[in-house]
Amino acid sequence: MALKNAMTADFLRSAYGGESMAHMRYIIWGDAAEKDGYPNIARLFKAVAYAEWAHAKNHFNVLKNQVGDNTVAAGAVFGETNIVDNLQGAIDGELHEIEQMYPVYLETAKFQDEKDAQRSFHYALEAEKIHADLFQKAQDKAKQGKDIEADTIYICPVCGFTEIGDNVEKCPVCGVSKDRFKAF
Ligand SMILES: [Fe+2]
Ligand SMILES: [Fe+2]
Repeated sequence: MALKNAMTADFLRSAYGGESMAHMRYIIWGDAAEKDGYPNIARLFKAVAYAEWAHAKNHFNVLKNQVGDNTVAAGAVFGETNIVDNLQGAIDGELHEIEQMYPVYLETAKFQDEKDAQRSFHYALEAEKIHADLFQKAQDKAKQGKDIEADTIYICPVCGFTEIGDNVEKCPVCGVSKDRFKAF
């Protein structure tokens, strides 16, 4: 269904910008974690970067009939200092998305009866809740100078659902079979 409303389109563009920057930031912070001797937290950053790519891709695709240039304003976090601070930046960014950004964007898409945007915002909101929790757990370890466990991290390529270890047969958010998950 083609997007009709300007406000939802603006929010999709902003969310696309935010997710694109989060994707890049987590790759940068993943490299920093690797260099600092935290290979599993590095893997968490890289895996979550892939989930943010899935969100950016979904938002971009919902905008496919909105052809043309735009200047996009989106929330961003900067800084590459140490692993604890980088994880705090990640937690803050995820919490902003969970508590402020996606609930408002989702309600707007519902109000404007934009079904595809609702799905895209819903997928992102559900994944960001998991990300905030995983980054908080990683930061608790990093504060003690410890890495997280070496379990496989799975990402749903459709909605960005994120899971550590083998606990689900299909995505609990979008229903995709686990054999399509990307493993990190
Ligand atoms: Fe996230
Ligand atoms: Fe999914």
